[in-house]
Amino acid sequence: MSLAAGPKTQAQSQLEILLDAEVVARRVRELASQISADYRGRPLRLVGVLKGAWMFLADLIRHMDLEDVSVDFLGVASYGRSTKSSGEAKITKDLDQSIEGLDVLIVEDILDTGETFNYLQEILTARQPKSLKAVVLLDKPWRRTRPAQADYVGFTIPDAFVVGYGLDYAENYRQLPDVRVLRQEGKGEKG
Ligand code: IMP
Repeated sequence: MSLAAGPKTQAQSQLEILLDAEVVARRVRELASQISADYRGRPLRLVGVLKGAWMFLADLIRHMDLEDVSVDFLGVASYGRSTKSSGEAKITKDLDQSIEGLDVLIVEDILDTGETFNYLQEILTARQPKSLKAVVLLDKPWRRTRPAQADYVGFTIPDAFVVGYGLDYAENYRQLPDVRVLRQEGKGEKG
């Protein structure tokens, strides 16, 4: 794939690979086998957080070795980087099915301030799952405004704005197969 073509040439030239596709794929396979071992013999419901986690979830689930695994999605928009970090999060798409009494694993792209993470824990705990855990591909622990710790973490990364592998900047770059640092002033709405 050529990054040189098209109208985004200038912005794309400021992208630096942080985690290449092979490194990401290897780690995703490791997470999948760890999760499979932990949930062996138990039905598992994955809850993917839209939009950023869709690519991660798709790769994770295909490497899981579990007989009974189902998927639902929750859309969450969070604001904070460009709008004075109010820590507000809101549901843009609710789950299709109840999670009551189920073992639930939240699948998120990135854990940053921890606001979205805490919000999700709160609203999903209230729905009385049997258990609730979370896997995040990327973790920026340096930026927390609230304590948050995922049960499974792909990579701990530096405090930089990253795109690719499902993560966007203003809806761009989600399609990139690797995780890249975006060096650019002014970052927009997250999600
Ligand atoms: P938090 O509420 O600050 O933890 O933010 C979590 C959400 O913000 C993630 O699910 C992403 O959608 C978005 N986000 C945080 N950091 C980045 C980044 O570096 N690149 C792209 N999106 C990000």
